[in-house]
Amino acid sequence: MTQDEMKKAAGWAALEYVQPGSIVGVGTGSTVNHFIDALATMKDEIKGAVSSSVASTERMEELGIEVFDANDVASLDIYVDGADEINGEFDMIKGGGAALTREKIVAAIAEKFICIVDNTKDVDVLGQFPLPVEVIPMARSYVARELLKLGGDPVYREGVITDNGNIILDVHNMQITEPKEMEKAINALAGVVTVGLFAARGADVLLMGTPEGVVKKAK
Ligand code: 5RP
Repeated sequence: MTQDEMKKAAGWAALEYVQPGSIVGVGTGSTVNHFIDALATMKDEIKGAVSSSVASTERMEELGIEVFDANDVASLDIYVDGADEINGEFDMIKGGGAALTREKIVAAIAEKFICIVDNTKDVDVLGQFPLPVEVIPMARSYVARELLKLGGDPVYREGVITDNGNIILDVHNMQITEPKEMEKAINALAGVVTVGLFAARGADVLLMGTPEGVVKKAK
């Protein structure tokens, strides 16, 4: 089974959590693209979606799914999104697709975070995947110096501007044994918009595609 087949299986498995008549929070990435394809089969049964990126909005609109502004929605039952890494506590690294800030906002609005991944994302300790940090452009060098002090090696993601007009620093060589503390520390740096650690608000349900099928775990 290929990695993409495992992503597809996880994405389609999330459909069973979608309630008729609801508005669904939708993440970003190649795994979520499979979920969006699945969601399109229910487009006449749901009200629509709140999107975490321009890319997901465009894909959903092409498939006829109505996309609502997050400001017009008081709550969401579920938010479905992928991850770059997830540990046994359901803490995650996200932001490989540079959509971390909007992802965190939509996740915050939702009651339940359903994480869809293939089995390569399953880790004991977060940090092998470089940790993305969205930064206001004028703070780039300052934040990079502070990230060095926190033990990481920040690398500017060349040529990438987020949907919010900011830049991304990818922090290499981190062993994140205390994800909640690290999330707080990085978020507190002046000029940081969002760190791609999702620990204060981690996942509630994990759907992991494996060669043996989709493994479901809930907190
Ligand atoms: C985008 C994300 C994605 O969820 C993460 O990068 C996983 O992507 P993929 O499903 O393509 O492996 O956080 O900002």
